[in-house]
Parts: sequence; C-alpha cells; structure tokens
Amino acid sequence: MDIVNPLAEAYITKLSSIHDEALFAVHQKTLEQHPHQHMQSSWVQGQFLTFISELTKPQNILEIGTFTGYSAMCLAKGLQPNGELHTIELREADANTALANFSSSPKANQIHLHLGNALEIIPTLNKKWDLVFIDADKTNYINYYDLVLPMLNNGGLIIADNVLFHGQVLEEEIKGKNAIAINAFNEYVANDEKTEQIILSVRDGLMLIKKKF
Ligand SMILES: C[S@@+](CC[C@H](N)C(=O)[O-])C[C@H]1O[C@@H](n2cnc3c(N)ncnc32)[C@H](O)[C@@H]1O
Repeated sequence: MDIVNPLAEAYITKLSSIHDEALFAVHQKTLEQHPHQHMQSSWVQGQFLTFISELTKPQNILEIGTFTGYSAMCLAKGLQPNGELHTIELREADANTALANFSSSPKANQIHLHLGNALEIIPTLNKKWDLVFIDADKTNYINYYDLVLPMLNNGGLIIADNVLFHGQVLEEEIKGKNAIAINAFNEYVANDEKTEQIILSVRDGLMLIKKKF
C-alpha cells in the first residue's frame, strides 16, 4: 500500500528542487542498477534529510543502514566543518558501492563507513550524537533506540524510517514480524517521557524524535 497517493508523490518530486546533479546521479544509479533499489530513500526524502541536517548543523551524525550511501550523503551536507558522519552497513557489496559513491561527496573525508552489525558497532563509537537516522532491520529498531538515546545530546534528533511500514501498521490485526516490530517501536517511543515525537507521512513514514532538555 502506498501511504502517499502516487500522483501526489510525482507532483511533490516534480516541484522539489534538484540542486545537486552529482547526488542525483548517485540516486539514479541505484534506482537503475540495484536489484533492491526500493530500499533507497526517495529523492525527496533525501532532500528532507538534507534540510533537517542543514537546519540543525550537527557535529556528529550516526546512520544505521547505509545501503548504497544516498541518505548518508544527504545527511552529511549539514555537518559542521569539522563534524563527522558515521554510517553502518552489514552487507559488504553495498558498503563498497557506498564507499565509491562517497568519493563524489564534498564531505567525503568527514564520512566514516563501518562494515558490520550495527548492534555490535554502535557501542564502540564513543561519540555524542546530534542527529541519528535509523534505517536498518526493523526488528531491532527498539534496540537501536535504546542504544543511541543515552548517547544523544539533549535537544538532539533521531529520525526513524518506515514507521508506517507500507500501511501494515494501520491494519486491525497487524501481521508480519516487521510490521509488528515497527508498531511496537512506535508505541515504545510514544510512551517514553525522555523524548517528544512526531510522525510525518513522508514516503513510508518518518518519525522525528527529539530528546528533551
Ligand atoms: C533500507 S536500507 C538503507 C537505505 C539507506 N539509508 C538509504 O536511504 O538509501 C537498510 C540497510 O540496512 C542494512 N542492515 C540491515 N541490518 C543491519 C544491521 N544489523 N547492521 C547494519 N546494517 C544493517 C541492510 O543491509 C540495508 O542495506
């Protein structure tokens, strides 16, 4: 199920700016060549991540789930001049594609790619995060949230993707382990007094979660 009417999605895409031809080429290449291209953020979702990053000007960004690197390149745009983006990918082939794509980013030397399981790598990153993008295996979203929240600066932001999970969380009886996990995550965050959250119906649903001061 498309959350956003495909006509609305096409209209939104047509009238949202493309001001970075190199990044657009990276996005297009995955769309055209990758058998799992649907896992990539849409062009507009990526531009939304850039907007948030440029507005918040983070020092440290963590991304969980690199895939071919598009969203990392979008997020990196708002980094402070000496800031760092750390992104974690389990699959070596996708990590290698991402590394090649990063070379066309003006922020390439600020992007650090970690190959492996995010559950094992996150605790080894001794950083205080300003912005976190959770976009990996859905059944671990609560684990990722619990791991990163203590390391998130007050006022820092977590963005979680796919929180409407193709509309499956809207069904009366939620079936499928991913939809069940996402619904549990949404309720878990909604009941956490340490954060404030808002769900936006961008593409497959984005939850913006702010750590309270
Ligand atoms: C939806 S894709 C990420 C899309 C990317 N953020 C973008 O917007 O273009 C999810 C990625 O998470 C990776 N992944 C899944 N489980 C993981 C884990 N435990 N640790 C690290 N990466 C994982 C997958 O291999 C996949 O490439």
